[in-house]
Amino acid sequence: MTRELRFAANWKLHLGPVEARTYMQTFRARYRRHEHRDVWFFPPAVSLEAAAQAVRERDDLWVGAQDIYWEPKGAFTGAVSAPLAAEAGAKATLVGHSERRHIFGETDDDTRKKVAAALAAGLAPVLCVGETLAERESGHTQAVVNRQLAGALGGMDGAKLAQVTIAYEPVWAIGTGRNATPQDAAAIHREIRAWLAARGVARARVLYGGSVSLKNIAALLAEPELDGVLVGGASLDPATWAELVQTGAT
Ligand code: PGA
Repeated sequence: MTRELRFAANWKLHLGPVEARTYMQTFRARYRRHEHRDVWFFPPAVSLEAAAQAVRERDDLWVGAQDIYWEPKGAFTGAVSAPLAAEAGAKATLVGHSERRHIFGETDDDTRKKVAAALAAGLAPVLCVGETLAERESGHTQAVVNRQLAGALGGMDGAKLAQVTIAYEPVWAIGTGRNATPQDAAAIHREIRAWLAARGVARARVLYGGSVSLKNIAALLAEPELDGVLVGGASLDPATWAELVQTGAT
């Protein structure tokens, strides 16, 4: 079966609407469509519409939200709902990114409600899971990842589960310049796949994230367990990102 690769760019708190437009122009000039790869962009909420407009006739390029609130509307000052993100042009959303969990106090139960809200609004959820350094060093990586999977996805039927992309992002690797080795990532990816397979998902999509760069992308993608990557820092420059997403393309 042909390998499908997904490259996801998490811009975090960078690139407003004006910069987002310029970024997309540069990116599109440097990246022509490649079969069997898609590229997803997660701009800040205020740049969703500008970014989505800039790629609207390219179905290999998707724009998504970095976070959504689970209620569709109401008195929730500061929140963005899944239907509103969709209206602005989002086709996907991150859920449970480690910065949401660790800085903003998001719980496993919150991630469950967000995944459900995303699916209900037709957004493809990208559920982020991963352990802290202390959890890894005390041998709890798998238990933490399984708890996060069960917290967000437990009880969901196989057809819905199959629509969820998982991003394995060890917290100690995010923004630190210290990536997991391809072998370490692969071991966790196998466990994630097994967790999903036990619930009826035959072909799960599992991305790796954490200090992915031009220096390590080829080695990471050489590991067949990786279905792609979720990238923060190295996605902020459109020329670098265009080069990164063409790694290994013929
Ligand atoms: P990084 O971030 O590539 O800058 O480590 C990854 C992420 O947080 O998704």
